[in-house]
Amino acid sequence: MIVGVPKESFPGERRVALVPMVIPNLKKLGLEVILEAGAGVESGYRDSDYEEKGAKLVPTRADVFAQADIVTQVLCYGSNDRTGRADVPLYRRGQNLIGFLRPLGSKEIVSEIAASGVTSFAVELMPRITRAQSMDALSSMATICGYKAVLIAAGTVPRLFPMMTTAAGTITPARVLVIGAGVAGLQAIATARRLGAVVSAYDLRPAVKEQIQSLGGRFVELPLETKDAQDAGGYAKAQDESFYQKQRELLAKVVAESDAVITTAVVPGKKAPVLVTKEMVNAMAPGSVIVDLAAERGGNCEVTKAEEEVAVNGVRVIGSINLASSVPYHASQMYARNLTTFLTLLVKDGKVDIRMDDEIIRETLLTRDGEIVNERVRQFYQMPVEVSK
Ligand SMILES: NC(=O)c1ccc[n+]([C@@H]2O[C@H](COP(=O)([O-])OP(=O)(O)OC[C@H]3O[C@@H](n4cnc5c(N)ncnc54)[C@H](O)[C@@H]3O)[C@@H](O)[C@H]2O)c1
Repeated sequence: MIVGVPKESFPGERRVALVPMVIPNLKKLGLEVILEAGAGVESGYRDSDYEEKGAKLVPTRADVFAQADIVTQVLCYGSNDRTGRADVPLYRRGQNLIGFLRPLGSKEIVSEIAASGVTSFAVELMPRITRAQSMDALSSMATICGYKAVLIAAGTVPRLFPMMTTAAGTITPARVLVIGAGVAGLQAIATARRLGAVVSAYDLRPAVKEQIQSLGGRFVELPLETKDAQDAGGYAKAQDESFYQKQRELLAKVVAESDAVITTAVVPGKKAPVLVTKEMVNAMAPGSVIVDLAAERGGNCEVTKAEEEVAVNGVRVIGSINLASSVPYHASQMYARNLTTFLTLLVKDGKVDIRMDDEIIRETLLTRDGEIVNERVRQFYQMPVEVSK
């Protein structure tokens, strides 16, 4: 079977789905790799690096889709809402497609992908079980986003992050607040600590308190009832508006005292909760910065504009999206390793073997034979759980 890697087409996207180092592992599975010429250049991987590891170059995107039995992408149609649709006519019935497909984003788009007949696997649907950790692309990308958000904050605030004792006196360390301590938030805490900042963090899941503390962060305790905060998959559950209102009131003081706030609070399939209001931004010292990693999902800050930097009263609110793409070498390496581990599970005796009794295969499989077949996604879109054929 042939695994194909087209160049990413989302504007500004710099990652690539497979990197040269994973090719020998794919060959061991009996897979051949073809790559659209130049697909890895933006991430720092030359065509010749791929060729040396045994990949074959093809000149166009259409060649990749025409020849590959398994197409691997970072942003497939679905998550690529700008240029992704152009791929649909290239899909072939029964061809396998693996990548970010934003399965809970739009029923119309997922139905369109299904109607093409492509067999698609959405990496976002990877179950949160120990066996799947090494295939979890969301965690890989979140790790990079958390790290990069801190670098952006450190490069934007008019202060130093570490404490310094100098001949010109002592510099006090910057105060960083991280709201949402999932994978991205925890990496942000670790990175800000490495830079010497004093870090506080808050999450509505009380389970993360120890993780925050083990990274040297202070857990911000809010007197809020959060018994039902987490679902079986480890994701936060949506709360009602009165909860968020209370949360904002309680967070106001600690936000006002922070030099940098990094927000990462999201709930799967929902708009991100607004946790920092315009009033709270106004109460921060001029020069402070908010990096809103939830910008793509509506933002955790009321004034956030996705892909823009907004200044309010001297406070800069940065609505970065797709930060993982700004560290493309390692983002691609991590993603390629995640995909390779997934392919090791999926491919048996050199063929794709869709074993529905395997939780990882069943839960990531999104479309097959013209239908949306994923139970979680069908429930989310209120479709009958049984597929029609
Ligand atoms: N294979 C696995 O076992 C596996 C894989 C990935 C993640 N996880 C675990 O799942 C958990 C969440 O991971 P994630 O980073 O993907 O989550 P996420 O990206 O869905 O959310 C980010 C964080 O925002 C928090 N949040 C949501 N609403 C909030 C609010 N109103 N106020 C404050 N915080 C809010 C969430 O609790 C979460 O910690 C983590 O504990 C992680 O370790 C497990």
